[in-house]
Amino acid sequence: MKLLVVGSGGREHALVTKLLQNPKVDEIFVAPGNGGMSTCCTPVDIKATDIEKMVDFAVENHIDFAVVAPDDPLVLGMVDALEAAGIPSFGPNKKAAILEGSKVFSKNLMKKYGIPTAKYETFDSEETAIAYVKAENTYPTVIKADGLALGKGVIIAQNEKEAIDAIHSIMGDKIFGASGNHIVIEEFLEGPEVSVLAFTDSHTIVPMVSAKDHKRALDNDKGLNTGGMGTIAPNPYYTGEVAKECMENIFLPTVEAMNKEGRPFKGCLFFGLMITKNGVKVIEYNCRFGDPETQVVLPLLQSDLLTIFEAVRDEQLAEVEVKFSSGSAACVVMASGGYPRKYQTGYEIEGLDNKGQAPGVTVFHAGTKFENGKFYTSGGRVLGVTAIGQNLEEAIQKSYEAVSKIHFKDAHYRKDIGKIK
Ligand code: AMP
Ligand code: GLY
Repeated sequence: MKLLVVGSGGREHALVTKLLQNPKVDEIFVAPGNGGMSTCCTPVDIKATDIEKMVDFAVENHIDFAVVAPDDPLVLGMVDALEAAGIPSFGPNKKAAILEGSKVFSKNLMKKYGIPTAKYETFDSEETAIAYVKAENTYPTVIKADGLALGKGVIIAQNEKEAIDAIHSIMGDKIFGASGNHIVIEEFLEGPEVSVLAFTDSHTIVPMVSAKDHKRALDNDKGLNTGGMGTIAPNPYYTGEVAKECMENIFLPTVEAMNKEGRPFKGCLFFGLMITKNGVKVIEYNCRFGDPETQVVLPLLQSDLLTIFEAVRDEQLAEVEVKFSSGSAACVVMASGGYPRKYQTGYEIEGLDNKGQAPGVTVFHAGTKFENGKFYTSGGRVLGVTAIGQNLEEAIQKSYEAVSKIHFKDAHYRKDIGKIK
């Protein structure tokens, strides 16, 4: 089989690594891919959001199955276009991807179907939003741009001035572009966060092993929010009891709600959850695999990923096995110094073999390029170094041991991935 995987991050490298384990897979094209993926796949120079070129490529090259991994092509309708051209694809269609594409939509859905989430109001004018925060006068308060904003569309305001500034920059100055035409203002929740990715074909939902993301740039959750500086799986806070509550109150009702709205969701549904004193609440939905959650979840998957993807697409998920190992995984992200602000790229990466790998771990490449037999940095998050262990401590220790032997100029990584307060 010839596969096409759309995207270029560590998540996509983890996806292709798993997909290549199926002996039916002869070749995987990655568009646009990265340095690490170019050692095992065929890179295609097409932007992940270029629907027209992607469909033409898939048709001309007789792709048997496509996987669209990032949020923006999903929200733009890439799966609809591929399917219309006869290419079986994994990922939600445009109507379903709105679950991540619009926070106003997802909040209203949760309210309508009684799915627990932070209390909120939505606004389409700066004046009414400002009048609301003044009248409410409770801080911190959470202000969110409606649309996709590269994971940066959430501002937690500690006082009235910060709230007004946030509203003005999102709705007035449009710092997140058209994403800020509408906003959500919501209650600030507290508690441990859990990421749960789930396969669903709109009839059956099968949660994967839970994960914990470390979003802040610096140790002890200091510094700016990033795309994710490291992950562990399973998440120690996600007990059997919490899992049961989530299935009953959140996972099944979400699938059902999307069906009732005429927007059946098929793909990977990502629940960003917070375990509060008053029960588990949804912080956000994503319509795709998480990054770097995928880099710890898929290495623990024992079943065949392509078989699951095909079953999801064919609405046969109940018929296939989805089994995870009982071990643990840890992923430490090595980033360019300065990330998520300004950083330099083009530095040589030392300590990797000619496949971009290192002993005892799997190195998932994100911002790397491969030139003349060497790997160079090319983005903010550069590598995700994943280790598996019998338990979390072992996984963390193995990952850090490998990280200590990989070098590039100004490399930055957190020293406390997996440390649970
Ligand atoms: P997001 O960019 O949507 O992943 O959100 C970034 C982070 O903002 C989340 O991981 C939470 O830590 C935080 N956040 C979002 N909504 C809330 C909320 N209602 N209360 C507290 N923290 C929140
Ligand atoms: N790691 C969070 C995300 O993928 O959105």
